[in-house]
Amino acid sequence: MKIIKLKSPATTANLGSGFDVLGLSLKLFNIIEAEESEKYSVCISGYGKEIISKNENNLIIKAYKSLFKKCGEKEIPLSLRVKNNIPVFSGLGSSASAIVGGLFLANCFINKPLTKKELFSLAVDIEGHPDNVSAAIFGGLTISYKDEKDWKCLSLKPPKDLKALIVFPDLQISTKQARKILPNRVRLKDAVYNLSRIGLIVHSFHSGDVKYLKDGLNDRLHQKNRISMNKKLQKLFFEIEKSNPGLGIALSGSGPSIVIFYKTGEKKLLNEIKKIIENNKIKCELFPLMINHYGTEVIKS
Ligand code: HSE
Repeated sequence: MKIIKLKSPATTANLGSGFDVLGLSLKLFNIIEAEESEKYSVCISGYGKEIISKNENNLIIKAYKSLFKKCGEKEIPLSLRVKNNIPVFSGLGSSASAIVGGLFLANCFINKPLTKKELFSLAVDIEGHPDNVSAAIFGGLTISYKDEKDWKCLSLKPPKDLKALIVFPDLQISTKQARKILPNRVRLKDAVYNLSRIGLIVHSFHSGDVKYLKDGLNDRLHQKNRISMNKKLQKLFFEIEKSNPGLGIALSGSGPSIVIFYKTGEKKLLNEIKKIIENNKIKCELFPLMINHYGTEVIKS
């Protein structure tokens, strides 16, 4: 019986100004182990184990099945063991990690008929936006775009020693809701504001010169609306922002997590952030993470 084990990374999307375009792979992984079986079964440990479906509605299995269907292959049912190290509903791409994990598994079980680029298009169809799945497939900082027919992605290597401190507050914000509240039209000057900032982020990652990163993370298209969905998040975000931490701050994806970039001074930064959290009386988990150069990787086949 064939066994495949893979690790699929957490991702932080948008980086403020790069709404639905930029994604970054982080060194925090869900571990998925799959074995051929007579019928589907799912065993989950770690984050979300009480709420994630363990039947064929499970997102890993849905993505897995979709690839068999696309290739016209007969499905091979799986017994899945999943160790979730990425918190769910956190803004850290746990659903992208599941979708990409399921697609990679299917690709391995059908002997790799699809390229990463083709898997990327399928993953965007399932997820609905490209930025988390691109970073979960290609790693590094990803720039996603679509031409007339295909999704495409460029991946840039992160600057040396760059790290991300994730502040995950115990608050509920669903991505679906956080997309729904965004306006269909934006002001031209706000679009220009974001365009200029994206340039600064790409410069920072391309050249390794991070002095413009802080300005690059500023956004006028989505963060304000989203942060104001929850007063506690709003206060926490503004207080962290006011403390001017590290190399800059952004909402991670659609939230509720906040990402703070830094290179040095981790202990001081952690202490400052802990103080702000304490003053705000919100339960938060902190994840100081290295940036991941790679996407999902098969670790046993
Ligand atoms: N770009 C997506 C959004 C990321 O902001 O809605 C969600 O994680």
